[in-house]
Amino acid sequence: MPKRTIVSMPGDGIGNAVLPEAIRVLDAAGFEAEYVHADIGWEFWCKEGNPLPQRTIDLLEKHKIGLFGAITSKPKSDADAELAPELRGQGLVYFSPIVGLRQHFDLDKCVRPCRTFKGNPLNFIRRGADGSVEEPEVDVVVFRQNTECLYGGVEWSNPPDLVYEALMSHPKFQQNFGSAPREELAISTRIFTRRATERILRAAFEHAREFGYKSVTVCEKPNVIRETSGMMLALGKQIAKEYPGVALWDTNIDAQMMWLTKNPEDYGVIVAGNMFGDIISDGFAGLVGGLGFACSANIGEEVAIFEPTHGSAPKYAEYEISIVNPIAMILSTCMMLDHIGETETAALIRNAVAEVVAEGKVRTYDMMKMRGRPEVLQQGAASTTQMTDAIIAKLR
Ligand code: NAI
Ligand code: MG
Repeated sequence: MPKRTIVSMPGDGIGNAVLPEAIRVLDAAGFEAEYVHADIGWEFWCKEGNPLPQRTIDLLEKHKIGLFGAITSKPKSDADAELAPELRGQGLVYFSPIVGLRQHFDLDKCVRPCRTFKGNPLNFIRRGADGSVEEPEVDVVVFRQNTECLYGGVEWSNPPDLVYEALMSHPKFQQNFGSAPREELAISTRIFTRRATERILRAAFEHAREFGYKSVTVCEKPNVIRETSGMMLALGKQIAKEYPGVALWDTNIDAQMMWLTKNPEDYGVIVAGNMFGDIISDGFAGLVGGLGFACSANIGEEVAIFEPTHGSAPKYAEYEISIVNPIAMILSTCMMLDHIGETETAALIRNAVAEVVAEGKVRTYDMMKMRGRPEVLQQGAASTTQMTDAIIAKLR
């Protein structure tokens, strides 16, 4: 089989620390691939006025599979101030390149597994009134719709005539907002399409069936957000009929967050729109180690991009020896391997991570509940490289 080519986009900050380490693990695990570097992030905004250069899009178009580290986004005033002088005043507007990639390639399915690793000191524990301690084993996979909902970008402040008139034709708008001065209105829309909603639901049910999860939970708020959440639940009920072995549960996002710590072990696959999927996946990730462990996949019809959910953590980017946890990035590459059918290599790497965590000899600062500072290395925390080495040593 010809070698695969993977587009490697480390991006900004600690993306440059964790992505090369993850590739080192892939190499050591025997995954044969070539990696082509692609430019993305703040540097290219400053130098070229575009954080997502066309050449990067072309590479993804050609090779279809990307690994992404993280990018830095800054407020509008900083974005303007850091632009190269010759590019200023041309009306260039900064946008998040990872959101740009999701939209450009219609990466409409975001998958975020949240699984307990035994022995992780960051695992959520429950203490009973009698002093007993339980460490529930969480194995949840969140399917988040990745392109629509409140993140669709259809929004206005001081809405233009046509929009305002259309809104005023809705009795609820007239009644509740009709007396507010128009220039004081800020409106963000929550749009769901049937196609994308069906796609994320179906992906969730397929995953549950393939991997033996007993339930798919639609986590929305259909009793209040009747049109969009209502559509997702109604379609969920229809699609569930095709999957007799998988139970359909539905929860409201607010109640689900309240129950997060009560019975997280009861949930399997959870499916939600973009906003609630973002919230619920961070919630569950917090039970299993947080940002150092939270991996994700952005999957479209043709292109798929795999990334840790953490950002560029700029304050750690300049450390002479990197201290951040590479596990979230490494687990994201395992999702890539599963996606392209290299499931054995994925399992090999996941087992190595599990062994290192269970053994507890090598832990990055976050796993030791330390505040991130260069001195953590003297205080017993492993560096990014030491953690990677420990994982590589367990590959067998
Ligand atoms: P962040 O995820 O970069 O960092 C938050 C904190 O989490 C860090 O200070 C650190 O304590 C911890 N942390 C993150 N990754 C870690 C790791 N691998 N190991 C150990 N600890 C880790 O989020 P923050 O500070 O809100 O944003 C920083 C920059 O990243 C911003 O410019 C933001 O726009 C961007 N960002 C980019 C994302 C992406 O590329 N997908 C996602 C989130 C934020
Ligand atoms: Mg988030």
